[in-house]
Amino acid sequence: MTFLRMRDATREEWVEIERLEAELYDPAEGALALLDTLRESPLAGHPVNGYEHSLQAATRALRAGEPDDMIVACLLHDSAVGIAPANHGQVAAEMLRPYVSEETYWVVKHHGIVQKLQMVNHPCWGEAGAAEAAVAPIRSHPFFARTRQFCDDYDGASFDPAYDTLPLEAFAGQIERVFGREAFRPA
Ligand SMILES: [Fe+2]
Ligand SMILES: [Fe+2]
Repeated sequence: MTFLRMRDATREEWVEIERLEAELYDPAEGALALLDTLRESPLAGHPVNGYEHSLQAATRALRAGEPDDMIVACLLHDSAVGIAPANHGQVAAEMLRPYVSEETYWVVKHHGIVQKLQMVNHPCWGEAGAAEAAVAPIRSHPFFARTRQFCDDYDGASFDPAYDTLPLEAFAGQIERVFGREAFRPA
């Protein structure tokens, strides 16, 4: 490549760049590398680490007969905790967005706030009405119920060290199918 400014790049250079991009960037690999970071500290203090928690949530979703989208959402919903602890759901949701339904995108994006409803003994969120007030602005959204179910059945239920959690390889098919979809490019 010889261009110094983007506007000077030739058609041939753009074709070559696009070919290289398709060869170099694998969205599934990138997402799984992020998930792998949860083996270390994120969710420290919980009964299982973030990696185990994510696999357990995905295992529960698989056993409940959920579609690929929801299983992959379970696997990756916390994957950005290490780089964006305060808004990890939003970061993971955007990573998934080109490949999943609007519903799945919304569930992952809002799981952090909806999860507060389960923290009944939390020093802040357990205060009377605190969690309810936090979710009030989104409670009437059509995907709220699905998000609550995700939090109740998969996310909030997946801290059991004794649970028969499946290894990552068990989800290879779901990962391949979801990330193998043609990417939708949100504006
Ligand atoms: Fe989370
Ligand atoms: Fe989680």
